[in-house]
Amino acid sequence: MFEGLKPLPPDAILGLIAEYKADSRQEKIDLGVGVFRTEAGTTPVLDCVKAAEQRLVDTQDSKAYLGTAGNPAFNAAMQALTFAGSEDKDRLVTIQAPGGSGSLRVAAGLLLRALEKTPVWVSEPTWANHVPLLGGAGLALQPYAYYDTAKHVIRTEAMLDALGKIPSGDVVLLHGCCHNPSGLDPSEDEWRAIADVIDERGLVPFVDMAYQGFATGLDEDAFIVRHLAERVPTMIVSTSCSKNFGLYRDRVGTVSVLAPDAATRDIVASQLANIVRTLYSVPPDHGAAVVAEILADKALTTQWHGELTEMRERLIAMRTLLNDALQAKAPGHDFSHLVRANGMFCFLGISEAQVNRLKKDYGVYMVGSSRINVAGITPANVEYLAESIAAVL
Ligand code: LMR
Repeated sequence: MFEGLKPLPPDAILGLIAEYKADSRQEKIDLGVGVFRTEAGTTPVLDCVKAAEQRLVDTQDSKAYLGTAGNPAFNAAMQALTFAGSEDKDRLVTIQAPGGSGSLRVAAGLLLRALEKTPVWVSEPTWANHVPLLGGAGLALQPYAYYDTAKHVIRTEAMLDALGKIPSGDVVLLHGCCHNPSGLDPSEDEWRAIADVIDERGLVPFVDMAYQGFATGLDEDAFIVRHLAERVPTMIVSTSCSKNFGLYRDRVGTVSVLAPDAATRDIVASQLANIVRTLYSVPPDHGAAVVAEILADKALTTQWHGELTEMRERLIAMRTLLNDALQAKAPGHDFSHLVRANGMFCFLGISEAQVNRLKKDYGVYMVGSSRINVAGITPANVEYLAESIAAVL
């Protein structure tokens, strides 16, 4: 029965994990998949997570199923973290989801049920997995202008113009902060202008927020979610705890839906329960239990804020470090967009052939688009990295 199937190439991002692992060169550098790393190149479990896990080991008395919506304490705490009281709670439902990707898939299921035609507008470019994940679920994706690959700036006018032409009722996917892959986010004024167009045209915002806390701070990074929640009747927000809690493999996130009124919210909640039941039945518990434990405890929350700040500051510092090193090793080339970007990613701005040379000749791994994860940069490898980049320019 499988004779007709063709082999598929490895995933453009996850495939790099195996390639990097198989490379025996000492000096190799991994700027591929979006995972935080310390200066020592490791991705340790956060201390607040370890402490919460210990409490769970000591107190958890059952592994019986959660309901389809997951852990209510987690959902309430995550809703507060995302929306912070900006919304009308009667109109909002938040459920636990298996990571940001699981959240996107549940939201896609809801859109497929709610809309006759399902155009979802995504930034050009967007996260490499948005297209297969949302498109593969059956949504019809269309691009809107976002990033100027020559100037390394957001194409704000072109974006506003494109949004202004989208048919009323269509869905617009926005990256809440730390745009993946470019790292360039609209300013608050630009977000306000974007929200104006969305509101005026009656578009449905769908905010993917996988990096809350990695750009400027937990509240600042939620600006567009909270701003839109005060203005629009309907919106969807996907969150992930992979990065900000470092719970990548535990698969934990949320999907929130803001509905026009409480009755519609209840209908949406029942639909979400059914979508979950028919996709994976109930969510995994552990990661959400850990987050709930942290967010319910003042001391653990303070500890988490500290660890999140450390991660954010390291990313910011590594951007400057690489930009400075490139100024020295590749004079005449402008990489200043590295320091204008937020979060884990930005484009280096080199060709795919140069990306391949970096991999083959220097053991430097990044996505083919030249997206780099700045968490892979360390004071120990930055010189070699800048020399390697300069050599392929
Ligand atoms: C990334 O963009 O590298 C991360 O979000 C990990 C992934 O699943 O692609």
